[in-house]
Amino acid sequence: MTTATLDSVRQKLAAVGQEHLLTFCDRLGPDEVGVLVEQINAIDLDALPGLIERYVLSDQQFEIPDDLEPAPYYPRDPASPVRPWDRDAAAELGEKLIADGKVGCFTVAGGQGSRLGYDGPKGCYPAGVISGKPLFQIFAEGILAASRAHARPIPWYIMTSPLNHDATVAFFMEHNFFGLCADDVMFFPQGTMPSFDKATGKILLADRHTIATNPDGHGGALKAMVASGATADMQKRGIEHVSYFQVDNPHVRVLDPVFIGLHAGADDSSGEMSSKMLPKADAKEKVGVFCRSCGRTMVVEYSDLPDALACQTNPDGSLRFNAGSPAIHMLGVGFVEKLARDPEFALPYHRAVKKVPHVDLETGKRVEPIEPNAVKLERFVFDAIPLAESSIVLETDRVEEFAPVKNKDGVDSIVTSKRLQTERAARWLEAAGVKVPRKPDGSPDCVIEIGPLTATCAEELVAKRESLPPEIERGASVVL
Ligand code: UTP
Repeated sequence: MTTATLDSVRQKLAAVGQEHLLTFCDRLGPDEVGVLVEQINAIDLDALPGLIERYVLSDQQFEIPDDLEPAPYYPRDPASPVRPWDRDAAAELGEKLIADGKVGCFTVAGGQGSRLGYDGPKGCYPAGVISGKPLFQIFAEGILAASRAHARPIPWYIMTSPLNHDATVAFFMEHNFFGLCADDVMFFPQGTMPSFDKATGKILLADRHTIATNPDGHGGALKAMVASGATADMQKRGIEHVSYFQVDNPHVRVLDPVFIGLHAGADDSSGEMSSKMLPKADAKEKVGVFCRSCGRTMVVEYSDLPDALACQTNPDGSLRFNAGSPAIHMLGVGFVEKLARDPEFALPYHRAVKKVPHVDLETGKRVEPIEPNAVKLERFVFDAIPLAESSIVLETDRVEEFAPVKNKDGVDSIVTSKRLQTERAARWLEAAGVKVPRKPDGSPDCVIEIGPLTATCAEELVAKRESLPPEIERGASVVL
C-alpha cells in the first residue's frame, strides 16, 4: 500500500467524517492495512452521511398511511363464509409444482442470534424436544421427507453471513448433510453493513484493523440471492418458486402444497411474494402485522404500529389488525431477479440499537459495552411485499407452524418452543386416534417428539395410524 493510496483513502474518509478508521494505521503491518483499506473501499462512502443522518443520529418514525387497513387473507377454514376458497385445488397445484421440480427451499440463517446467546450459528442449536436435533437437521429431514414423497431432489438454499458462513458449512459437512445430497444444498453469504456509534454516527472498529460489521438483515437476501448466483442456479434447475423460512422456527412446514398452490395459482396472486399469517396472541405481540394501503399488501412492524391501531377492535371484540407475521413466505424466482437487477431497487433500512464490542480509539483497548452503544442498519424482507403486483396472505395455526427459538429464556425461548412441539405432536397423535394423557390444565402429561421423517403434518401421521401405539403412558418420553 503506497503512501499516496493511503492519503487518498484518508481524504475520502475525512470528507464523510470517518477518518478515525485509520487511527491505528501507523502501528499496523502492511497486510493489516491492506485488510482495513479493502473493507473501507467496500463501503458506499457517498451514501454514508445521508444514512447516518437519517437512521443513526435520528430515529425517523414510520409514517402510517391514512388509508391503512387490515390486509385481507385466506382463512384457515376454506369453507369460512368470510372468504370461501378451494383448498383441494390449491393443494393439487402445489403438489404438482413440487413433483415437477419447480419449487425449492430457502432458509435465511445469516442472523447473529444475539438474543439467544448461543455460541455458533443458530441453525446448529439443539431444538428437538427429546433428540436434541439441531434446527438445521429438523429442516433437512422435512426436505428429505418431501423429496422422498415426490421421488426427486428438492434443492435447499441457505443464506449465511460472512460471520457464520464457514461454521455453517462445516456443520453440514460434519453431519453428512443430514442425509441430503450435498449437491442440492447451496450456501451463500449475505452482505454486511458497518456498525455505527449511536452517539456520534462514527463507524466502530472491531479491532485496530477491522471495521465492526453486522449482516445487512434478512432483506439483504434479495440482492444476495442474485449476486451469489443462487437465482441463476434455481433457473438452471427449473425452480420457479422458493419456500422462504427463518432458521429459528422448528415448526415451519418447509414445503406446504396448499400455500405453494395458492401463491402460484390464486386469481388474486401475482405469484411474486406471498405470506402466511397467524392471529396475534394479543394486541401488543411483537410481530409485524399484515396491512393494506393503496391496494398493496404490506407488513407494518409492531414498533411502528401505534397502540391505538394495535388495540383497535371489530364490533365483535376481535382485534382489527390481527394478522401477525411468522415470517413464512413464498418467493417467485423471477420476482427476486426482477427486483435485484433493477438499479433503482433498494429496500429501506431499519435501525436496531444493540451492544457492539469495539476498540477505544484513545487507548486501543477493546470495550465490551454493558449498555447498547451502537446502531445496526438492517433491511427486512417483508418490505418487498408491496413491490409485488398482488400479494396474498394465508392464515395458519400458531401451534401448527410457529414455535420460534429467539430468546435465551421467557417468551419464544427453547422452553416455550419445546412445549409447543409436544402440544403439536399430541394433537397429531390424537387426530390419529392415539390416547394422549393430559393434565388438568389441558397440557400433555408426557413429552413427545415426532420427527419429520415420520410425519410433516397430521394427515401423514393419520395415514400411519396402524403402526402407532394406542395410547401414550402418563409422564412418558416418546420419540416417533
Ligand atoms: P432475527 O430478527 O430473529 O435476528 O432473525 P437474529 O439476528 O437471528 O437474532 P437477534 O435479533 O440477534 O437475537 C430472523 C431470521 O432472519 C435471519 C436470521 O438468521 C433468522 O432466521 N437473518 C436475520 C438473516 O439471515 N440475516 C440477518 O442479517 C438478520
